[in-house]
Amino acid sequence: MSLPVNAQDGWTLQYDASLQALNTFHVAARAQRLVHVHDPACLPQVLALPEVADGPLLVLGSGSNVLLSTDQVPGTVLVFANTTVEIIEHRQDHALVRAGAGASWHGLVVESLQQGLSGLENLALIPGTVGAAPIQNIGAYGVQVGEFIQTVEAWDQQAAQWVRLDAEQCAFGYRDSVFKQEPDRYLITAVELRLPLLHHLRMDYAGIAEELTAQGVELPAAVDVANAIIAIRRRKLPDPDVLGNAGSFFKNPQLPLEQVELLQQHFPQLPVFPADREDHRKLSAAWMIEHCGWKAYREGDAGVSPAHALVLVNHGQATGAELLALARQISASVLETFGVPIEPEPRLIGAQW
Ligand code: FAD
Ligand code: EPU
Repeated sequence: MSLPVNAQDGWTLQYDASLQALNTFHVAARAQRLVHVHDPACLPQVLALPEVADGPLLVLGSGSNVLLSTDQVPGTVLVFANTTVEIIEHRQDHALVRAGAGASWHGLVVESLQQGLSGLENLALIPGTVGAAPIQNIGAYGVQVGEFIQTVEAWDQQAAQWVRLDAEQCAFGYRDSVFKQEPDRYLITAVELRLPLLHHLRMDYAGIAEELTAQGVELPAAVDVANAIIAIRRRKLPDPDVLGNAGSFFKNPQLPLEQVELLQQHFPQLPVFPADREDHRKLSAAWMIEHCGWKAYREGDAGVSPAHALVLVNHGQATGAELLALARQISASVLETFGVPIEPEPRLIGAQW
């Protein structure tokens, strides 16, 4: 049965629903139950439904950072469909923007720039929803969303109550947060961001200045930076609507400085970046994977993007299990060559790393 049943004002419930359009790998998995929540006020009522309360619960946004490793996702998949974006406070130097969990992240970036607000320009074109942005503290081109988050509003499953967490309580790090540390505890329903009206543009990440010059921009505004980043991303990353993928499949590993210096003696070309901790450095997983010969590799329909070694792709009919098997082969070869363990960035559903 694929049509919504038990439709109410604030939510709908489907049984045996396809998740193929709800994950950007386009893996053909199905959910036992799929609930769309349009009005988060209904959430406690939805969670108390016997068939929902009984089994496991998985919140999905656009599925751009998950690998469905099983054909059948048991229990309930819950999708937030509240998409309102509004300015709730306007001050001389900043504004507070509130967005529903189901709103498009890129849509929020575009709207904030149109309102004359800045800060999010480096995060343009990241797929997914607003509600998922705090989960891994999305980041790109030298900026992470945690810098701008004032409040995350969520239903705390553990305490069975609504909570409003400030940035400190969110414990943001590189691809990390309290939400990653305590998976499934918080169901995020809205995010509030404090965005400056005037702001120091960040253009030091490799390629931004060159792209602005190529576009003929001499005195860039925030919107010009966003356009430059959109152009770079379109060149570097495969479009999931054309070729299924979840962006970077592995996180860049963060290692103690001494270990990095030893590695650099053997591999002088290895790119090294600042890490969360002063005494650590972040290594380029893409470089290590390319060095091991995986770039553009293909086995059946599971492969590695020819455009970017960190991106696993589904050429058509790959299953989650096949993509996971390829990821394991890649990480084993990086471990063997560099002695460095690499971990998946997307959440694995139905499998353990
Ligand atoms: P999903 O994939 O649906 O979910 C991701 C995780 O968040 C899951 O654990 C899920 O359970 C949880 N979750 C989702 N919504 C909620 C909610 N409301 N409450 C509680 N838990 C929730 N990421 C970056 O950081 N930087 C990038 O530059 C970047 N580039 C990408 C490029 C491409 C082409 C692709 C496909 C992905 C890229 N990503 C990037 C990864 C992805 O876009 C982000 O992680 C995004 O935030 C995921 O959003 P989503 O709505 O698709 O979340
Ligand atoms: N590189 C290679 N081979 C490749 C691609 C890259 O050797 O095929 C090397 C290059 O030396 C390059 C370096 O890797 O200088 C870094 O590449 P890039 O700038 O593309 O960044 P990344 O580390 O691969 C990270 C994020 C991306 C984010 C970009 C830009 C992670 C895991 N990934 O990628 O986020 O868009 O930086 O800031 O941190 C995502 O999380 O899904 C994602 C796409």
